[in-house]
Amino acid sequence: MTARIISGTEIAKQIREELQREIDDLKEKYDLTPGLATVIVGDDPASQTYVSTKIKACQALGLYSANYPLPGTVSENELLNLVGQLNSDPKIHGILVQVPLPRHIDEGRVLTAISPDKDVDGFHPVSVGRMVIGQPTFLPCTPHGIQELLIHAGVPTEGAEVVIVGRSNIVGKPVANILLQKAAGANSTVTVCHSATRDIASHTRRADILIAAIGKPKFITADMVKPGATVIDVGTNEIGKTPAGKRILSGDVDFDNVREIAGAITPVPGGVGPMTIVMLMTNTVKAAKLAHGLK
Ligand code: GUN
Repeated sequence: MTARIISGTEIAKQIREELQREIDDLKEKYDLTPGLATVIVGDDPASQTYVSTKIKACQALGLYSANYPLPGTVSENELLNLVGQLNSDPKIHGILVQVPLPRHIDEGRVLTAISPDKDVDGFHPVSVGRMVIGQPTFLPCTPHGIQELLIHAGVPTEGAEVVIVGRSNIVGKPVANILLQKAAGANSTVTVCHSATRDIASHTRRADILIAAIGKPKFITADMVKPGATVIDVGTNEIGKTPAGKRILSGDVDFDNVREIAGAITPVPGGVGPMTIVMLMTNTVKAAKLAHGLK
């Protein structure tokens, strides 16, 4: 059996079309344009690509976008001052500080300086706490995108064995918490594997839904997958460059072999990536509405 391909590109497009209507409505009825500030420190090419994709997505939807590319030498205080300014700027409803930050900057301090009301990445400890106890909040974009992908692709999550490989604060830990909630599109039995897990394959082979967020190209091989499982590949590993200098990406899953075993699989690119972007746009619109007392 060859797996069904779950197209994040297609699902993100559907969500974007609904969001576009909402944005047009906000402009027409309330003269309100949701605004997102992006902050990037240094010149890491992967981070630059991610942030420029986010900026373009904002512009395509007619959102206000303010961008702050800062040199890698910027001090923590300068960055904290910028976040403070953005917190009190009424045109800005969402603030995104791209991580990782250079080593001389305390990432936790910077992310905690963002007002929880503008925390469209869902990285502030207040947002994380609300997520864990199932209160309304901004959910982090990649994990929320994965949940929406499963819902839109009709993959049942209730009672499903979900195995996540990777325990990052950006993907592994939050997606585990989201799918654990007693809620529609969740209610799963969740296992998180990591670098100290003994015999990872013994866990992954039990998975109805396998989420790979390790950061190692083709880590998940066909023998690690249960026949018919849904495989979500969060990896975006650069494995080379085209002659024109474009990055060649590989997921964390050995796609060509795993697709012969799995029931459904997300491609890289065109799987989780577009979902992350559209969830960021969704969170920015939500932040703007909350700031104006709209539901
Ligand atoms: N670095 C990798 N993914 C993300 C993300 O979703 N948000 C931010 N701010 N940084 C990231």
